[in-house]
Amino acid sequence: MATTERAGELLYEGKAKQLFATEDPALLRMRYKDDATAFDGKKHAVIAGKGQLNNAISAIFFARLEEAGVPTHFVRRLSDLECLVRRVRLFPLEVIVRNIVAGSMARRYGLEEGMVLAHPTVEFDLKNDALGDPLVTEEQIAVLGWATQEEVAEIRRLALRVNEILSADLRGRGVVLVDFKLEFGRDPEGRIVVADEISPDTCRFWDAETREKLDKDRFRRDLGGLEEAYAEMLRRLGGTPR
Ligand code: TMP
Ligand code: ASP
Repeated sequence: MATTERAGELLYEGKAKQLFATEDPALLRMRYKDDATAFDGKKHAVIAGKGQLNNAISAIFFARLEEAGVPTHFVRRLSDLECLVRRVRLFPLEVIVRNIVAGSMARRYGLEEGMVLAHPTVEFDLKNDALGDPLVTEEQIAVLGWATQEEVAEIRRLALRVNEILSADLRGRGVVLVDFKLEFGRDPEGRIVVADEISPDTCRFWDAETREKLDKDRFRRDLGGLEEAYAEMLRRLGGTPR
């Protein structure tokens, strides 16, 4: 694979990011786009400034996880819109951790948003837009070969550890981490690492005092003020957009 790649070549384009080859086959350049999508891409808009804010916010979260001993694919930020990441083999799973009932959990079970769960939960969706990212059980993941039972156990352990680290950090900044989505990959050394991004596109953040939404629900629910909310998150995290 690496032999036919040219540095700078576009290897993958998703809804919110692009991945490019670099001179080093072990490293990729990830570029954040300003595109916002929801409902498996059925709703779409371009929001100037979003890519830059997500790149900056995600870089801060990944650096905090690395400091706390959680392995990630993140290497460093390269520019406003780009960062350097290690090449990993992604599991085809979206791993969702929830602390408070919101979004699809509220819809699916007919619950009010805002109920605090007795303990955090982890759920797995198959990453497949055409199928609407269907929920899968750990047993199905193993039997259908998307990850082994041991890999699922390690992914679950890491997801809960990420939740502890980020929840504690955000609490000190007046932000409640309601829920979030992670993706995991296996690096060339065989370690399972956190990949993709951790940003207001992939998390729900509520202001601890006012319960104001500081995340992509502003777009999903047509509340407006998305860029301002993301900029506020970056400010609370002590970062700068550059
Ligand atoms: P949900 O309530 O819609 O299932 O979303 C749970 C969390 O996962 C929320 O923080 C948003 C995030 N998420 C993504 O990042 N990508 C997705 O495709 C979905 C469905 C959710
Ligand atoms: N990111 C997903 C999409 O683009 C879903 C979401 O975050 O609401 O459809």
